[in-house]
Amino acid sequence: MLKVMVASSKGGCGKSTIATTLAAYYALKGKATVLADADRQGSSSRWCARRAELDTAVLPVDATRKGWQQRIPSDADRVVIDTPAGVRASDIAASIDELSAIVVPVLPSTIDLDATTAFLEELAELPRIKRGKLPVGLVANRTKPWTNASQHAIDQIRELPFPLVATLRDTQAYVLMAGLGKSIFDYHSEIVRSHQADWDKLVRWLNKAA
Ligand SMILES: Nc1ncnc2c1ncn2[C@@H]1O[C@H](COP(=O)(O)OP(=O)(O)O)[C@@H](O)[C@H]1O
Ligand SMILES: [Mg+2]
Repeated sequence: MLKVMVASSKGGCGKSTIATTLAAYYALKGKATVLADADRQGSSSRWCARRAELDTAVLPVDATRKGWQQRIPSDADRVVIDTPAGVRASDIAASIDELSAIVVPVLPSTIDLDATTAFLEELAELPRIKRGKLPVGLVANRTKPWTNASQHAIDQIRELPFPLVATLRDTQAYVLMAGLGKSIFDYHSEIVRSHQADWDKLVRWLNKAA
């Protein structure tokens, strides 16, 4: 069972977008997929509810409730955990032994990078991460590759203490598909396919963590 947590101290950096897209990706690959929502705002849970009619539904688990880990079916192949803003590395420490990988979305702006740095430093101090037993990967999200600001921020992200495992572009496709309980992997226009390719590196990196 691959358990991936999507976490950042920052709100609005794309945690729920990445968690739902990854869950859809695995479900479409035929994996029994659970999306555990630890955010009281419930974006991921609502997305699962919208997707419930599809053959590739994702099972929602309310991870704001105590004992939620016990409600994950033992035959689940993939568990994606979406977390709220304001999470601290110390909150993650409680369930850290269960995780296969942590994905941290980062927006490509200096202000966002500064806000994320302290969180990354805290993560780096957690013993399992420090020993190199739990991989942490950064995802640059909402990038605009044609802008200097975005390029500059990506260069800054590469200097952070964890590897950059994907660079996702800013596109309304994520917004539109999420609202339908879907993802860019449920749709196959040429443009959307080019955005799907942005995920290849992340998926390969997660496979290695499995
Ligand atoms: N790559 C992207 N391109 C365009 N919009 C995005 C992208 N990623 C996230 N968004 C949008 O940004 C907003 C915040 O994303 P969300 O996933 O809800 O962040 P979080 O869960 O970290 O608060 C949402 O409106 C979402 O649709
Ligand atoms: Mg969210």
